[in-house]
Amino acid sequence: MLNTPIRQWKGKRVWLIGASSGIGLALAQALIARGARVAVSARNGEALYRLAASTKPANVLPLPLDATSRDELQAAFAQMLDAWGGIDVALLLQGTHAPMRAWTLDADVARGLVETNLVSVLESLAVIVPRLLEQQQGAVAICSSVAGYRGLPTALVYGATKAALINLAESLYIDLAPRGIGVWVVNPGFVKTPLTDRNEFRMPALISAEEAAGHILDGFASGCFEIHFPKRFTRWLKLFRFLPFGLYVRLIRRATGL
Ligand SMILES: NC(=O)c1ccc[n+]([C@@H]2O[C@H](COP(=O)([O-])OP(=O)(O)OC[C@H]3O[C@@H](n4cnc5c(N)ncnc54)[C@H](OP(=O)(O)O)[C@@H]3O)[C@@H](O)[C@H]2O)c1
Repeated sequence: MLNTPIRQWKGKRVWLIGASSGIGLALAQALIARGARVAVSARNGEALYRLAASTKPANVLPLPLDATSRDELQAAFAQMLDAWGGIDVALLLQGTHAPMRAWTLDADVARGLVETNLVSVLESLAVIVPRLLEQQQGAVAICSSVAGYRGLPTALVYGATKAALINLAESLYIDLAPRGIGVWVVNPGFVKTPLTDRNEFRMPALISAEEAAGHILDGFASGCFEIHFPKRFTRWLKLFRFLPFGLYVRLIRRATGL
């Protein structure tokens, strides 16, 4: 077992970035239902206050921010520490997607994907990790994707940001696990959210955001480093990682028709 399992969430102080919709919103709701105290962040403050209004106010702390802004991250984290005196788990789920192929490559859109999916996670870690080291306890989870395993059509830049996050989580684990800090990487398959609603192709093994939240909590309870789901889909993609590139390309072309 690579991490200490987290099975009991009651009273845990959680910071969830990306909590305004999709998987993050469903996960925030599941954590609140289990008695965690959850500081919720995203740019859409209205959605965060709506979430807070729907539950016990003392257990939810809305901290609207743009996670690409260092100042906003620092100010929000200071507010959370003021309120709860520390952090137990940081969940970095912020992300965006813009389907792109080689012939639609747009440097500005690509830069935006890198800023939101990769740079904002680095900025978040730079704020959180020193505190986790000081406390000598806690955990951080980074949401990547199975799109980070290998190159895929339409995921020209999205996939590259997610591959970087998997590598980043592995390096973080190597450094932080010996210091008693948990590091997790979450690799979902297809989940129905505003992010995938822009996909025009049929998404195999599509699950709901609520199911995804359940899988993430099961993953924390198992103590594994990588939380991937649904297994009926992700196990195949894991197998595909070991194929020679030529064979992989033939299979992916056949499977996607792209
Ligand atoms: N859905 C899938 O099939 C799937 C599969 C694999 C991985 N993932 C990953 O799962 C995570 C959640 O995605 P989702 O599918 O639930 O999509 P979503 O509903 O679009 O959620 C994305 C979240 O990230 C937040 N966010 C985006 N940019 C931000 C910024 N600059 N600062 C702060 N928050 C920001 C959004 O809030 P605001 O817009 O309010 O800021 C929202 O809360 C993402 O990292 C995504 O890449 C999703």
